[in-house]
Amino acid sequence: MKKLSIGLFGFGVVGEGIYKVLQKKSLNIEVKKVVIKDPSKKRNARTELFSTDKNDILNDDSIDLVVELIDDDKAALDIICKSFEKGKSVISANKKMIAENHEFLIKKSQENKVSFLYEAAVCGSVPIIRNLEEYFDNDLLKSIKGIVNGSTNFILSKMTNDNAPYHKVLKIAQESGFAESDPTLDVEGIDAKYKLSIITLHALGKRVKPEDIVCQGITSLHPFDFQYANEKNRVIKLIARCNPSENGETISLSVLPTFLKKDSPLASTHNEYNGVIVESSLADSQFFYGKGAGRYPTSSAVLSDISASLYDYKYTYKKGVSVRLPTYDCEAKFYISYQGNEFETLQFLFESIEEKFESRERNYVIGNIKLKKLKDRQFLNQANYSIIQID
Ligand code: HSE
Repeated sequence: MKKLSIGLFGFGVVGEGIYKVLQKKSLNIEVKKVVIKDPSKKRNARTELFSTDKNDILNDDSIDLVVELIDDDKAALDIICKSFEKGKSVISANKKMIAENHEFLIKKSQENKVSFLYEAAVCGSVPIIRNLEEYFDNDLLKSIKGIVNGSTNFILSKMTNDNAPYHKVLKIAQESGFAESDPTLDVEGIDAKYKLSIITLHALGKRVKPEDIVCQGITSLHPFDFQYANEKNRVIKLIARCNPSENGETISLSVLPTFLKKDSPLASTHNEYNGVIVESSLADSQFFYGKGAGRYPTSSAVLSDISASLYDYKYTYKKGVSVRLPTYDCEAKFYISYQGNEFETLQFLFESIEEKFESRERNYVIGNIKLKKLKDRQFLNQANYSIIQID
């Protein structure tokens, strides 16, 4: 097997993790240089390894593989493009940068005949991208739904099981290295949108912009909603969904808090774990489960991509990379809870109403809503509503 020389960008939670893992493993792999932003930070590795000059990696012809694990998506895009141009393959975990520049990055890596792998960008240690890319090549995919963000699942699990307050558990998620440096990306469902966009490309060969995905985070959930879930024998999870229509011409994509029945495997997916249910014509239903965030689970996916690079593995995008804008015409059952006299405004959202409840603490209404009506972010962003899909 050939020897691999790596240039690592970033020495944060995952960067340091993968460095430590590679030090321990007796693989034919050497981390030759690590480029960091802040040289004043104390690092647990020999000083000569570090540089603040990206050219120390880009211009070093003995480095074959770039592992990009930085936070700044614009800087990451620049590093990746330059690496491709220098004939270096790249591994990245930067979901925002990948989801927003997918088509360009695929073209550029193909033009330069290098590989671009990013298993760690979606669901941490769960090998969902390579499975969708390779295994579900012939079996017709009917739907994908899952928990794809570890931080929000950690928060919702602690709020449900330990009655812990939102801000306290968000802090623990940050301290544990699960959350993004800007945790708004997690709690507003934005990180999940990036991941769903990448999943959709590998599942169906359709490129969908993250901003075209219907999305609602977990910030406006109210204690009453958790109480309601418990009374109805359900749990609240942030669920990402990809549903192609039967003729395959349209797709409906969403990231929404959801009341799940307790017997769903996703209801038993706790803390920073992620879970993805893939429904296909022949295999029926399959469940992928594992840690979706954190230093070593994410390092495991990066390591798997590094090993794949040793035998020149590339995603081939056999299903295509075509654009198909999602449509939101499908209808689903929703619960919306609110304070005060908001029903007048809310009622127009519903195609039909099944139940309306009022109490001093909180009111709610249940009925069917077309997803396209939820696309209006001005309405969705109002903190006094909890919008929860009922599965
Ligand atoms: N902030 C992300 C999450 C990290 O919580 O899932 C892993 O992508």
